Amino acid sequence: MEDGTKKTSKQIMEELKNDFTNMYKNNPTKGYFSPGRINLIGEHTDYNGGYVFPCAISLGTYAVLKKRDDMIVNIASENFKDTGIKSFNLDNLEYDKNDGWLSYPKGMFKAFADQGHKLQHGFDILIYGNLPDGSGLSSSASIEMLFGKILNSEFNDVESGVELAQLGQKVENDYIGVNSGIMDQFAVEMGREGYAILLDTNTLKSELAPIKLGNYKIVIMNTNKKRGLKDSKYNERRSECEQALKLINQVADFTSFGAMSNEEFDEYNYAIDDATLIKRARHAVSENQRTLRAITALKQNALDEFGRLMNASHISLEYDYEVTGPNLDTLVHSAWKNGAIGARMTGAGFGGCAIAIVPDDKIESFKEHVGKTYKAKFGYDADFYIANISDGPQEIKL
Ligand code: GLA
Repeated sequence: MEDGTKKTSKQIMEELKNDFTNMYKNNPTKGYFSPGRINLIGEHTDYNGGYVFPCAISLGTYAVLKKRDDMIVNIASENFKDTGIKSFNLDNLEYDKNDGWLSYPKGMFKAFADQGHKLQHGFDILIYGNLPDGSGLSSSASIEMLFGKILNSEFNDVESGVELAQLGQKVENDYIGVNSGIMDQFAVEMGREGYAILLDTNTLKSELAPIKLGNYKIVIMNTNKKRGLKDSKYNERRSECEQALKLINQVADFTSFGAMSNEEFDEYNYAIDDATLIKRARHAVSENQRTLRAITALKQNALDEFGRLMNASHISLEYDYEVTGPNLDTLVHSAWKNGAIGARMTGAGFGGCAIAIVPDDKIESFKEHVGKTYKAKFGYDADFYIANISDGPQEIKL
């Protein structure tokens, strides 16, 4: 499918239905969609017991399917045409390193079975995602929650939204081997049109906050530099934070960096006594405090302040957490100079996407100038999309 970011969901579903019929010689009976996400602020705080503030977006993953009478699951992806139809049997859901992208759906089937749910039958399935792959917009959580929705609906609504998000995280941690937090699955699963989700990752309590941007829009800027978290420094950052907390715990009792104020961190960081670990921990603490300040600013309609806190978040991720890299830095720094009232990387970092809040009447010149600066430096284009804040996973009538 050519550039799906520009297609309507209706066009995508029509193409998927036709392709399914050609592929499986049968018509699909059900359709589903699951969104991706952006995180407005609160980055690398979810495994540090802090707050995150993400929202689901209208780019995501689509599926059409038909139930089978046996225990075989056939899945093809329009994003990976060369891998054709991939299959597994519901009697053997063990991880196989040769499965590639199939591990995400297969992992969800396994997570459901491990919960004690009976997987009654197989399916023929065709999926397609218009989330750029490896772009930090949670294409993997989108697929996990898509299958959470499919399994829940086809096998009678057994799990709640929070439980589904937890199952998705489990697949990521135990099946795929990325030690990620709960943010992505939670944001995708609990997404609501027009709202961002303030989630306390310590208690899993969440609150919806309306995003009223007036004459501004959120522009997603894609570096087109892919990254896979499995091979990235993601797990390393997580363990650096764990080490730093252990050292703090020798002198004071804090359950996580989310439980510390900036002042407390200042008072106790002598116990860490290591330049790198201090920087990592300082980000975890300050980013959490910034997120709380940002929510207050948003509630008071102080959009400029919200924007400056996004900028501060990027600075902290660039200099203290060191997860941005030249591609993201170029986009974000150039966004600051070209009309954005706030811009920062979003997601894990190491490539992928950044976001910027830009006034409507400056969006075209913003894209042109930031795009030019980026291309001059890296020799290839960045892509720009407008973020539409969307609902969580849903069935789409065929
Ligand atoms: C990835 C992980 C999330 C979160 C972010 C960084 O998206 O999957 O759990 O840690 O990085 O905020």
